[in-house]
Amino acid sequence: MSRFDGKVALVTGAASGIGKQIVLRFAADGGTPVIADLNLDAADATAREIRAKGSDAFAVAMNVADEAMVEKGVADIIEEYGQIDVLASNAGIQIVKPVVDFPFSDWKRLLAIHLDGEFTTTDDVADAVLFLCRRQNQRAHRPVAHREPRLGHGIDRWRRRRFGALRHDDEHGLREPGRTRVASRTRGRNARDS
Ligand SMILES: NC(=O)c1ccc[n+]([C@@H]2O[C@H](COP(=O)([O-])OP(=O)(O)OC[C@H]3O[C@@H](n4cnc5c(N)ncnc54)[C@H](O)[C@@H]3O)[C@@H](O)[C@H]2O)c1
Repeated sequence: MSRFDGKVALVTGAASGIGKQIVLRFAADGGTPVIADLNLDAADATAREIRAKGSDAFAVAMNVADEAMVEKGVADIIEEYGQIDVLASNAGIQIVKPVVDFPFSDWKRLLAIHLDGEFTTTDDVADAVLFLCRRQNQRAHRPVAHREPRLGHGIDRWRRRRFGALRHDDEHGLREPGRTRVASRTRGRNARDS
């Protein structure tokens, strides 16, 4: 039994650098990492690298400063795995300049990724986890025959509450709750290769 057996971690900015090392280590310790990054091709490559070593991994296109993309990414993860146990808000950029040479637009970009990104990911993951806890509680009181096959199946209700009414957004594949495009993600080894 490894340290992270059965655990799912969402790691932002995990296609490269420090985030990539986090997901490689998490997978080596038995967990399933979700690689969320602006750069989907690089996220896919990292997921493939992990799957080649025999672990599961899932790549999601996500700009952490974009609330709709974070919502969609979190909903996709819950739909796939029915859980998120760990969040590492690692995505970030480095702009290192003397303050007198620091354009205000760069400052705002930095804050949007580092601060807004922390907020959007924590907000969505915490909300989804609370939803799943309540659901698990209700489920435990239901006869087995009336339980949904997987906890993640209830995510449509969470999606509906978060997204509100019908929402059209072709860029992010958000249409109606429960009818999102799947082009922006790749499935984990078990789901895809079985
Ligand atoms: N490397 C250092 O010395 C250092 C020092 C202090 C803090 N940090 C912080 O650690 C984190 C990782 O640093 P790193 O050196 O691995 O950086 P890196 O540039 O190697 O990797 C950052 C990753 O984040 C992704 N990313 C950037 N903006 C994003 C966004 N808006 N949404 C989703 N993904 C996004 C990039 O595509 C990239 O894959 C960053 O937050 C960085 O600011 C790094």
